[in-house]
Amino acid sequence: MSSCVIGRAKRIVGELRVPGDKSLSHRAALCAALGEGVSRLHRFSPSLDCERTLACLRALGVPIEITDAEDELTVTISGVGLEGFVPPGRALDAGNSGSTIRMLAGILAGQPFESTITGDVSLQRRPMDRIAHPLRLMGASVRAREERYAPLTIRGGKLRPIRYRLPVASAQVKSCVLLAGLFASGTTIVEEPVPTRDHMEIMLAEFGAEVSVVGGVIAVSGRPRLRAREYRIAGDISSAAFFIAGALALPGSHLFIRDVLLNPTRTGFLEVLRLWGARIEIENVRWWYGEPVGDVRVVSSPCRERGQAEPLVLSGALIPRVIDEIPLLAVLATQMPGGMLVRDAAELRVKESDRIRVTVENLRRMGARVFEYEDGFAIAGPQSLRGAEIEPEGDHRLAMAFAIAALLAEGETSIRDPEVAAVSFPTFFHVLERIVER
Ligand code: S3P
Repeated sequence: MSSCVIGRAKRIVGELRVPGDKSLSHRAALCAALGEGVSRLHRFSPSLDCERTLACLRALGVPIEITDAEDELTVTISGVGLEGFVPPGRALDAGNSGSTIRMLAGILAGQPFESTITGDVSLQRRPMDRIAHPLRLMGASVRAREERYAPLTIRGGKLRPIRYRLPVASAQVKSCVLLAGLFASGTTIVEEPVPTRDHMEIMLAEFGAEVSVVGGVIAVSGRPRLRAREYRIAGDISSAAFFIAGALALPGSHLFIRDVLLNPTRTGFLEVLRLWGARIEIENVRWWYGEPVGDVRVVSSPCRERGQAEPLVLSGALIPRVIDEIPLLAVLATQMPGGMLVRDAAELRVKESDRIRVTVENLRRMGARVFEYEDGFAIAGPQSLRGAEIEPEGDHRLAMAFAIAALLAEGETSIRDPEVAAVSFPTFFHVLERIVER
């Protein structure tokens, strides 16, 4: 296993685009496969996770071509419609990707053949009962190891529409039920007590499904004909977040990131930074296929001047809107007066790693004072970090969050297994190298 060594940085300066959003790319590929005709998806995410979604669709008989020109992936998918999938020759492999297994399961539940889907060691530890339960209510047969883990063996066909209230705030579960709803005779309804990212409902409507959203109630009509389309994927805000955080924390930085996805269910991170006094300007806002997109300008901010010692509190309905950025916010919190308190975030324990434990342990390795709760943590701030050996435990977002911590720390930090960044952002370390000044 390799490691990379990162030293303290002076500042971050640059102008860039980040790769296409991972959440949008998965969904665009699934909708294109379900559509009739040829869809072209521009600026598709180069992540290993999205590669898994494409590989699984190919194994289900969907013709897919990938071209890589001028640093941009274009994926051409010849949709097979709702009925054109074929039984895969062997178990589908979702790799590390929770989105792939949970969303694809919704489509597999609509197939009249049996298929098995599994993933890597991390994915086989993550809870799948949250999708197995609603899919069974819809009439699919779902077998799971110990009733809740992958491999999942699914057999379905014509499904019953259900009205389902999400027991956990999860966009993956919502998306799974909505996709299965396409195979139901009637209207499937998902109620979400707390809003989560709404890309699936927006995307389904863009591809021609009948979708309505009123408050937290989402309804999709069964048996639609989805149409193929041209689609341009906005830049991944969860990837941009690492550079934005670095630029804010290093005095003298300025950074400009074009074409960033700014869907409000994803921008909790920017709101938290503004509460810390950050200067972030959004320019040139426009709409791409129902999703807001803009350019983000960041100038390092004198956050430390915020003269109060109360911790910033992240809890309740804010959590799903910042869920993937919490480890990164934990790193930044060490630099902020009052630090940060995170509660209601127990979901972090069932991500690619136990993100509460892994964040706390690595911050402690860097000398930080941190208190761990079952559903979050408290981080003192401001406090200095010192270089350390970081163990991201195979979690891409942890490897990248601690690469940013390394820029702020005294001395050198070594990050074990940095290649895991490729799960969401294969060029992360190259881009970082390009924009960091020492
Ligand atoms: C995602 C939803 C979130 C998020 C994940 C991507 C999605 O997971 O953490 O990275 O694209 O729907 P949950 O739905 O499990 O909260």
